[in-house]
Amino acid sequence: MGPPIAYHPVRMVDTGAVEAAVAALRAGQVIGLPTETVYGLAGDASNPDAVRRIFTIKGRPATHPVIVHIASLDEMSRWARDIPPAAMALAERHWPGPLTLVLPRAPQTPLEVTGGQDSVALRVPSHPVAQAVLRAFGGGLAAPSANRYGRVSPTTAAHVRDDLGDDVAIVLDGGPSDVGIESTIVSCLNGRVTVLRPGVIGADAIAATVGTLDAPDATMPRVPGRVESHYAPRTPVQLVDEDALDGAVLAHVQAGRRVAILARSGQTEHAPVDAQPVSDNDAGLVIVGAADAVTYGRELYAHLRRLDHTDADVIVIARPPRGDDWAAVHDRLGRAATR
Ligand code: TXA
Ligand code: MG
Repeated sequence: MGPPIAYHPVRMVDTGAVEAAVAALRAGQVIGLPTETVYGLAGDASNPDAVRRIFTIKGRPATHPVIVHIASLDEMSRWARDIPPAAMALAERHWPGPLTLVLPRAPQTPLEVTGGQDSVALRVPSHPVAQAVLRAFGGGLAAPSANRYGRVSPTTAAHVRDDLGDDVAIVLDGGPSDVGIESTIVSCLNGRVTVLRPGVIGADAIAATVGTLDAPDATMPRVPGRVESHYAPRTPVQLVDEDALDGAVLAHVQAGRRVAILARSGQTEHAPVDAQPVSDNDAGLVIVGAADAVTYGRELYAHLRRLDHTDADVIVIARPPRGDDWAAVHDRLGRAATR
C-alpha cells in the first residue's frame, strides 16, 4: 500500500489572510498557496487572464497544462466529463490528498488551463489552508508548483519568496509541506489507468484500488515533470551509489572542486555539519537525510535548496535504497541530476 502518509495535525488558519487571498483571486491575481505536497502558484482556473499570469510568472511554456485544485470531489463534473468508475474510486479513496487525476475535459474548462489538450488534471488538496481558500473562493484554482520553470519545487512560504520575490503579492504561510514531493499523477483517459508521475501514493496503492495499471504509451498526455531535466538545482548534481560516495567526493576534492553532500545516516565518512549553523556560502556542507522514505521525501527539496545555496561546484548525492517506497524520491533525484 505504499508508505503511510502524514496528514495534517490541526493547524490554525488565519481567516483574515484567507479573505485577502480570496479577494486577490477574485480580482484575477495569483497567490502563493500552501498544499500538503508543495506550494502552488494559484489563480482562478475559470479566468484565462489569471491562468496566463501564472504562466508568465513561472516562465512556463503556455502549452504545458496546469492542475485544477478543487475543494471536494463533488466539483469534479464542473471541470471534467465522462468520469470513469476507476477515477471515482481513486478520488473516493485518496481525496483530499496528494493524488491528481487526468480526465476528459469538460467543455467549459478553459484551454489555457489544459495547454490546449482535451484533458484536465484535477486534485483535492488536504492542506487546511488550501481547503479554506478553496471553500471561501468557491471555484477551481489552477496551480502549478510555485517555482520558476524547471527549478526545485517550494515546500515553505520562504522558498516561494526566494523564487518569485515580488511577482506575487500574497504568499499564504501554511508551514512546511507535509508530503514535500508533488502529487502522484494518474491518467484515466481512454479506458486506461496510467501513472504519469510517481508520488507518495505508490503505483501499488493505485493498483490496489483499480485492479491493473496500464503502461504509458505514445498517446499519453504531455507532462513536463516527465521532461528529463526538471526539479534541478543550479549546481550540477551527481548521483552515486552508496558505496561509491566517498570515492566520488575524494575525486572532486583532489581536482580542486568544492563539494556539498546529501547522504543518509551511515552512508558517508564525511562529518555532517548539519547540526551547526552553516553559512549560506559554505561548501563542504554535508546533509544527512532521514532513514525513511516519507521523511526523506518531505525534506528533500529543502535539502536541495540548501545545498544549492552553498558555493559548492558540485552536489554529490548518495542513492537511497531501492523499493516502492522510494520510487518518488528516486524519480526526483534522477531529474535533479539531469541537465
Ligand atoms: O502536488 C502537486 O501536484 C503540486 C501542488 C501545487 O498541487 N502541483 C504541481 O503542479 O506539481 P505542476 O504544474 O508543477 O505539475 C503538474 C503536472 C505537470 O507535469 C503537468 O504537465 C501535469 O501535471 N498535467 C496537468 N494537466 C495535465 C493534463 N491535462 N494531462 C496530463 N498532464 C497534466
Ligand atoms: Mg512543478
